[in-house]
Amino acid sequence: MVKNVEIGLSAISRDLKKAAADAIVIGVGQGSDGPFLLENPLAAKSAEALTESLKALGATGAADQLLRLPGLPETGTSIIALVGAGKVDAGGTLTGEVLRRAAGSAVRQLAGTGTVILALPTATLGDVAAVAEGAAMGAYSFTEYRSSTEGLKEPVRKAVIFTELASDAALPTVLKRAGVIGKAVNATRSLVNQPPSHLFPESFADAAKELSKGLPVKVTVWDEKRLEKEGFGGIMGVGKGSSRQPRLVKVEYSPAKATAKVALVGKGITFDTGGISLKPAANMGDMKSDMAGAAVVLNTVLAAAGLGLPVKATAWLCIAENMPGGAASRPADVLTMFGGKTVEVLNTDAEGRLVMADGIVAASEEFPDAIIDVATLTGAQLIALGNRTAGIMGADSVTGPLKVAADRAGELVWPMPLPEELRPSLDSQVADLANIGERHGGMMTAAVFLQEFVGKDKAGDTIPWAHVDIAGPSFNNASPYGYTPKQGTGCTVRTLVSYLEDRADS
Ligand code: BES
Ligand code: MN
Ligand code: ZN
Repeated sequence: MVKNVEIGLSAISRDLKKAAADAIVIGVGQGSDGPFLLENPLAAKSAEALTESLKALGATGAADQLLRLPGLPETGTSIIALVGAGKVDAGGTLTGEVLRRAAGSAVRQLAGTGTVILALPTATLGDVAAVAEGAAMGAYSFTEYRSSTEGLKEPVRKAVIFTELASDAALPTVLKRAGVIGKAVNATRSLVNQPPSHLFPESFADAAKELSKGLPVKVTVWDEKRLEKEGFGGIMGVGKGSSRQPRLVKVEYSPAKATAKVALVGKGITFDTGGISLKPAANMGDMKSDMAGAAVVLNTVLAAAGLGLPVKATAWLCIAENMPGGAASRPADVLTMFGGKTVEVLNTDAEGRLVMADGIVAASEEFPDAIIDVATLTGAQLIALGNRTAGIMGADSVTGPLKVAADRAGELVWPMPLPEELRPSLDSQVADLANIGERHGGMMTAAVFLQEFVGKDKAGDTIPWAHVDIAGPSFNNASPYGYTPKQGTGCTVRTLVSYLEDRADS
């Protein structure tokens, strides 16, 4: 089900020819006085000649521009690929994300090429890490359901990073980390890209077990009988309309010397038709991505295990298929959620918060230091923050460090409030709570709903919790850019891994 081939990552500091590469990538910046070549290993004369020709070649330095030129004897490659890095000041330092995108864009567009040297400026190991991550994320394709791959270009197999830091003692660790991150992001994408005919609750649980093989994690699966018996009314209520029964999957990574204990809860709606409150037909197929949150938390915990981080991390995958059917929940039905709270379902399309509520209650029972939930929860997220920026809400003690982690990882997140006055809009005439409320600021209304289910720690204080709405950024239905392909993006994995790394350091 997840059949991604991992790119080989290595580094050299001289002798380009030894890399036996097919292409070398050199960066072009978009300076205020026109395009200019970024620091590169070409001989001074070659670099000068190339600089002279940049304008005539049509090189602008714009992000994602890729120009192929013949190789030179000194590069030992049949082509030189010039990749645009976007707006940068000559002599100015590039941010990690600019490097990540330039490397990723080049590797993505060079699909069909075997080995690529990435000769982008790397002043620090952080820069090398960014180039390596970009390469690993750029080398992605999803061809599982094609009867023939003829005419399709295979992702780049090997990336050789040209850097003065090639013999640094920490370099192997840097490349290993980039490989683990790339694998986790690509696995998330491939789960999201699965058609709902093939990815349904049971097969998603199987895929979680399969991906966990060989890693120090424990996987527990609740089937429908156990969910029913233990009172997971949210997950069961959403899954009832489907012939494919729901699942709850817990993936635990418990290293011996853990410095912190973090619970991650993910929305795993393998397909969201809206249920009886049926969605319109246009683009409904995109709702195969409504399990992105569960894929993200799964792969984050697997990455933490792969990296051996000294943090206990548990993923809770809340998985169901939201279908209309004779047995489906109706508007006005009342569900008893895990933990006993009752919810009146006024709109069956607001199903994500129902499965997530059960997961948040279950996660709370283990008294983690923090709970972070990740969900493609609302269309309102797209209205508020657009396609590429995830909304984060909750306790400052979690959203603050999450923002710091996202900034370092190069992902876009933005904090939004949880206004108290939204809570009464969720009042129900018959139950503790209704599943829909104020429409304006609907991303925050949904978060206020989830907040009701966050449990208390042993001292009786509310467990620090944050909610991440990835409705927009998890799925790219526009053109590819940087390291981001069409469809599943794998967003938020990097942020969460960085967050866990920070908990390990503190
Ligand atoms: N899965 C959707 C949210 C969504 C919309 C994700 C677009 C990605 C792209 C969610 O289950 C949903 O349908 N939410 C409703 C809630 C409403 C009924 C309160 C929405 O946002 O319209
Ligand atoms: Mn829905
Ligand atoms: Zn949904």
